[in-house]
Amino acid sequence: MSVPDRTTVAIVGGGPAGLLLSHLLHSRGVDSVVLESRPRERVESRQRAGILEHGTVDALREVGAAARMDEKGMPHDGFAFHVHGERIHVDMAALTGRAVMIWAQTEVVKDLIVLRLEQGEPLLFDTEVLAVEKVDGPLSRDGEALVRYRGDDGAEHELRADVVVGADGFHGVARRAVPADAVRTFERVYPYSWLGILADAPPSSDELVYARHERGFALLSMRSPTVTRAYLQVPNGTDPASWSEEAIWDELAARTGLDDGSFTLNRGPITDVGVTPMRSFVAEPMRHGRLFLAGDAAHIVPPTGAKGLNLAVADVRVLAEAIAAWRTDGSQELLDAYSDTALARVWRGEHFSWTMTTMLHRDPDADPFDDRLALSHLQLVASSESYRTAIAENYRGVPLAGEHQSVPEHGQVLS
Ligand code: PHB
Repeated sequence: MSVPDRTTVAIVGGGPAGLLLSHLLHSRGVDSVVLESRPRERVESRQRAGILEHGTVDALREVGAAARMDEKGMPHDGFAFHVHGERIHVDMAALTGRAVMIWAQTEVVKDLIVLRLEQGEPLLFDTEVLAVEKVDGPLSRDGEALVRYRGDDGAEHELRADVVVGADGFHGVARRAVPADAVRTFERVYPYSWLGILADAPPSSDELVYARHERGFALLSMRSPTVTRAYLQVPNGTDPASWSEEAIWDELAARTGLDDGSFTLNRGPITDVGVTPMRSFVAEPMRHGRLFLAGDAAHIVPPTGAKGLNLAVADVRVLAEAIAAWRTDGSQELLDAYSDTALARVWRGEHFSWTMTTMLHRDPDADPFDDRLALSHLQLVASSESYRTAIAENYRGVPLAGEHQSVPEHGQVLS
């Protein structure tokens, strides 16, 4: 593959947001170059969440990267909360007519990479972006923006582009190209992390279990009919090596158990352990001149509720439409609206993720008042169908701005 020195859209970052954007643009006849700093194996092995909203599933189908997901993904109609030994079921399908799909982000990324390489379109790994320059000022069709990068040959190169998209994550370089006085940031750091495991054990229940217990939060998820994914709330700075396999399973059992004895945890060999800190973060606006930010480069959510990937996908769906409209008829209306359109959904995701997080975790610094509030919140979930409906609507994902939310036939569930 020869690497162009000029493109319409330079996409900084080859994670799910950047890769999917390249495909959405390609299918709209817009060329792009994707630059990713890490080697392909690293991008493909990163363990992240695994819940896809309906809109995310649609986008993968639209670009032709859904065959494995449709074969092996697991549609889920609901989930459960286990609160101090009591079960609350949220029947998402009955309450909202929609399901979600369990399919790991890692697998999504693999399929997007294969498709891009099959198309012979530029996707550069081991390519470190050194600087994003000349993004101030109006849009131009002269490729005025400049991306400087070090290629996998070790040499420095330049890529000129009409538009640069920063999809290079929270620690990426793209956001730093925005002058400090042109961006406002909002942040919350949580006093706990997640210890996450993958295990060769069949899932303990058909649906996901979110548990709140005196000893802290736990989540039981899955990757396949034979692989469990699970998480435990742990103190920040926890060394995963300080937890033995037995201690992890005992703690998961203690936190997810039900008082009536009806729940049994399946155990098995643990194949992967990691610790993830939790953060909420938003940078506004998501555009500066010819630079557009998408996904984690602009916003982070704590993983409770699995909104991160879905928010990133929603960003690039809006952005691809807007760039295509500009290229087709010169109209900048959608691009001018991009930041506001994306941020409305981002803040919904921020609020939902914060709500799920604070309702289900035990803050080690909290006083008893906070604990009582969280329990009352969960009591409301248990007792009110309309409140459960609101949670289910957020969980399965709200429609994109301007998108019609089709109402399924009675009894029909869309996944
Ligand atoms: C996961 O399967 O990794 C997962 C599921 C649900 C969440 C977070 C992570 O809320």
